[in-house]
Amino acid sequence: MYTESRLLLLEQMPKHSICAEIGVWKGDFSDLIIRYTTPAELHLIDPWVFTTAYGRRWYGGKKAQSQADMDAIHDEVQFRFHEAPAVRIHRELSAVAADRFPDWFFDWIYIDGNHYYEFVKQDLERYLPKIKPGGIIAGDDFEWTCEELAGMLPIKTAVDEFVANHGLPLTLIGES
Ligand SMILES: C[S@@+](CC[C@H](N)C(=O)[O-])C[C@H]1O[C@@H](n2cnc3c(N)ncnc32)[C@H](O)[C@@H]1O
Repeated sequence: MYTESRLLLLEQMPKHSICAEIGVWKGDFSDLIIRYTTPAELHLIDPWVFTTAYGRRWYGGKKAQSQADMDAIHDEVQFRFHEAPAVRIHRELSAVAADRFPDWFFDWIYIDGNHYYEFVKQDLERYLPKIKPGGIIAGDDFEWTCEELAGMLPIKTAVDEFVANHGLPLTLIGES
């Protein structure tokens, strides 16, 4: 189910670290983070809110059909990781959850929440101070777009601006 590039990414992430996944869905990638990196702390951040405001996303009709579906997915994730001592679940928008963490807290984070430009930009800016010096902000779907965006690449645009504005290096692994 996961592309080779996402597994290559996990192989390169630090082991026994403090990390976060923004946008968890059913926790399949969270499970891989645990298996590949045995984190000391893995913070799973997702509001599990059903909304059609951003087109037919997984959480807005493409997969989940209602808030009850999202509640059920959240409950499954809670059960799935209830015996995983490293996992902390934050049922919140990523922008809200950011305030919970001190600066220089995470070794690395993985951003896979709302894929629209404003949200990607917000996640990048809000979480940058939360990353330790030398840490990593990772993600996927770099060249993601959808029909209503008419060829625009919101993630690529937000990331390119972010690395340019902050003078940060960008590494692409495999296909996005
Ligand atoms: C593509 S899915 C994540 C898939 C997951 N990372 C994986 O690889 O299995 C996107 C998730 O982002 C969540 N999401 C949407 N907006 C969000 C936000 N503002 N903050 C955090 N999560 C958000 C949705 O509820 C959904 O579960």
